[in-house]
Amino acid sequence: MSQHDDKRRKLLGRLNRQLAYTAPLLALVAGGAVLHASAGDDAAVADLASPSSSSLMMASNHAEGAAEAQGEAEADAQGEAEAEGQAEGEAEGEAEGGDSAAVARPEGYSPAYSETGDNPQEMLARGEELYYDTSLSSNGLACASCHGSDGQDMGYSETFERPFPHRVAMAANQFGMSEVHADEMVQICMVAPMAAEPLEWGSEELTSLAAYMVEVQKRVAGEPHDL
Ligand code: HEC
Repeated sequence: MSQHDDKRRKLLGRLNRQLAYTAPLLALVAGGAVLHASAGDDAAVADLASPSSSSLMMASNHAEGAAEAQGEAEADAQGEAEAEGQAEGEAEGEAEGGDSAAVARPEGYSPAYSETGDNPQEMLARGEELYYDTSLSSNGLACASCHGSDGQDMGYSETFERPFPHRVAMAANQFGMSEVHADEMVQICMVAPMAAEPLEWGSEELTSLAAYMVEVQKRVAGEPHDL
């Protein structure tokens, strides 16, 4: 960075900080008044090439400063608005018992996996593959990022020691569901921690992941399993 740029940057920084009190000067600058008097003992200003270019630069710096300050103010305002919106959304969500419509089995739905008996090996293998697949999420996570890999299960609460359907704290607290099936729990983790859309009901992805979770549940409970 050239010496000139460096000075300009410092000056701009100072002007940004002083913007509140220099704002009225903008009118003066626009009117062609020389800034040296107001900038006073500022050595950086005194070093600038010529009075005319210096006033021009000051003017443009002021303009930039003002624009930046306004931009920040707008960004802040937007951020607050978003935060408020989110808070409202959460409050509503809680009041309605969460968006369980997206994660609860549709009426009359009958899953293509068994929650009590055995599931085909290919289905379990496909489920395991998906369990490690980061492309299912929008945030780079895979199920295994939170729940472990290679049989080192983690991130599960004690509730997971009971066969499905059963109560899970996150399902109850965030979605108002008193108990969940394996596929519903997959959907909840898709929507919440994975920040993604729920999987299609009846899709082989949902079916295989749920079937896989049924076996992982047995493994976590210390029961015989097919993994
Ligand atoms: C960012 C971390 C995270 C990711 C990623 C994640 N989960 Fe979860 N999962 C949790 C949390 C937190 C809970 C809730 C534990 C509770 O409330 O008891 C949970 C609970 C579960 C349960 C229920 C355990 C029980 O007690 O019955 C299952 C099953 C499950 N997840 C499967 C998955 C699957 C399948 C995926 C991938 C599609 C996934 N999770 C991705 C964090 C995650």
